[in-house]
Amino acid sequence: MLRPQLACSASLLLAAVVRAATVTYDWQVDWISAAPDGFTRPVIGINGEWPCPPIEASVGDNVVVKLTNNLGNQSTSLHFHGIRQIQTNFMDGASVVTQCPLAPGDTMTYNFTVDVAGTYWYHSHNMGQYVDGIRGALLVYDPDDPYGGDYDEDEVVTLSDWHHEETIHLSRFLLSPENAPPEPPAMDSILVNDIRRDPHFNIDRNKTYRFRFINFSAAASFMLNFEEVNAEVIAIDSYNIRRAKASTIRIAPAQRYDILIDFKDTDSDNIPFLIAMDANLDYTNPELGPTWLFNLTGHFITNPYLPLRRNQDVVEWDPLDDSRLEPFWGYSPLSNPNRFILFDAEFCPDQYGIPRACFNNRPYVMQNVPTLYTAATVGEFNTNPVVYGAVNPFILSEGDVVDIVVNNHDERNHPFHLHGHHFEVLDRPFARAGTWPGRNATTINRYPPLRDTVDVMAHSYVVIRFLADNPGVHLFHCHIEWHVEMGLTATFILEPEKIRGLEIPQDHLDSCRKIGMATEGNAGGNVDNPLHTSNMNDQPPRFHAGAEYPPPRFEDEPSCRPPSRIMRGM
Ligand code: C2O
Repeated sequence: MLRPQLACSASLLLAAVVRAATVTYDWQVDWISAAPDGFTRPVIGINGEWPCPPIEASVGDNVVVKLTNNLGNQSTSLHFHGIRQIQTNFMDGASVVTQCPLAPGDTMTYNFTVDVAGTYWYHSHNMGQYVDGIRGALLVYDPDDPYGGDYDEDEVVTLSDWHHEETIHLSRFLLSPENAPPEPPAMDSILVNDIRRDPHFNIDRNKTYRFRFINFSAAASFMLNFEEVNAEVIAIDSYNIRRAKASTIRIAPAQRYDILIDFKDTDSDNIPFLIAMDANLDYTNPELGPTWLFNLTGHFITNPYLPLRRNQDVVEWDPLDDSRLEPFWGYSPLSNPNRFILFDAEFCPDQYGIPRACFNNRPYVMQNVPTLYTAATVGEFNTNPVVYGAVNPFILSEGDVVDIVVNNHDERNHPFHLHGHHFEVLDRPFARAGTWPGRNATTINRYPPLRDTVDVMAHSYVVIRFLADNPGVHLFHCHIEWHVEMGLTATFILEPEKIRGLEIPQDHLDSCRKIGMATEGNAGGNVDNPLHTSNMNDQPPRFHAGAEYPPPRFEDEPSCRPPSRIMRGM
């Protein structure tokens, strides 16, 4: 059972008693109006505010988020990106995976432990909805942070692409036969800390600053360039690494970089740095045309009375290779992999000409019962992938050391994310390395860094490794939100034997009834015969309902116009 373990050693218990606190948030999710780049539009905020507030806790704390959906016309959910959810897989927030979508007027409580310190974020995990603004920082502080003594100030910097139209309209056009060849929606703007403005940080030259960069984007990566200061990366995706000097960093959607910057060796004033939005083009390929849609020049302000300089005009983009960073001291890499999963990721229009994105020729198809609830209620059938339907299911056993290869057949980069685990990045060659050449033809990192989101280069591949030690249902997907909507997702069911009979919190079960979904049986809701596949969805819906509530019917036809501009494919 996924139950909090009561037995632990006396000293651990004592540490827990001394340190662990409960941090509680009571959040009403609502539409409000905001104009982060001067254009006013409805955005999804929390307690009447946007940008959304951060979650802040110390390692070992319990975080409780009581979430009420006041959107009126859409369902919602909250996912805590990067948090492992040990023994609380049902708090992962992925809709139709570990819970039902939360209906308007309904309330649900998330309650989980933040067991690893670092920089995370939270976002709606419901039908592309976070692109409408419901996302924020999640910071887990560590009183014993090994880098804690090395900095004086701590700043969060969020980066995002931004759209003037609502996600549901953008997604409906994205998922229409008219969108051929498939193009993602064009970004309208760049936001830094949720505003379009050159970012300024007041700096005391005698201090060292920890900047926690978080990429909230739907699709855009960012290049950060700090050529005039001493910048060192100390953590990626919430895991500490050995310090690595870097003047250019590329941060893909959902990734985080914690960077220490000191100014001791810089004698110039008001030092510029560059933040450039890379619209997920393959920045190593000049033939793909202009990559930089939006630039902002930030400044570290040392003297507000002096003028601001610009960066030099031409910056050579030679970003740090994050796949070669070394884990923090004390990490022992995994060995002896016993499971191997190969994913070919590519676009795969369906029979209606609707653009889809596939792992091994199959798009993820949402089912009628959340996958975790199926795993919990079909008894011994839960080790049979048939019961989960077309969610690209993979069953993993306790202690499996799993190697995953993703071949990216697209001409753009894709950031792949695994829920519930950090994985080792064993090999991530540069663009156009081709498909994975096989075990004997590759060299892997002996001391690989850990991440939860890895950016796979264009026409190239990645090899990652993780230990299956967290029973539950965990998604693996591209974190370009448009590609999630197109189906680029697989589902890992870990240690199904331990999920049987799992007790799901009552308010979570109740939310299924409120939205009209079943809480038991196979993916089609069949309780009596879990191998009976008749009510499962084997194709993605022809009409994209999005998070709209009540859900529109196909005959209603989309009431939206196509977005005004689209971008070259990704
Ligand atoms: Cu940021 Cu499936 O998550």
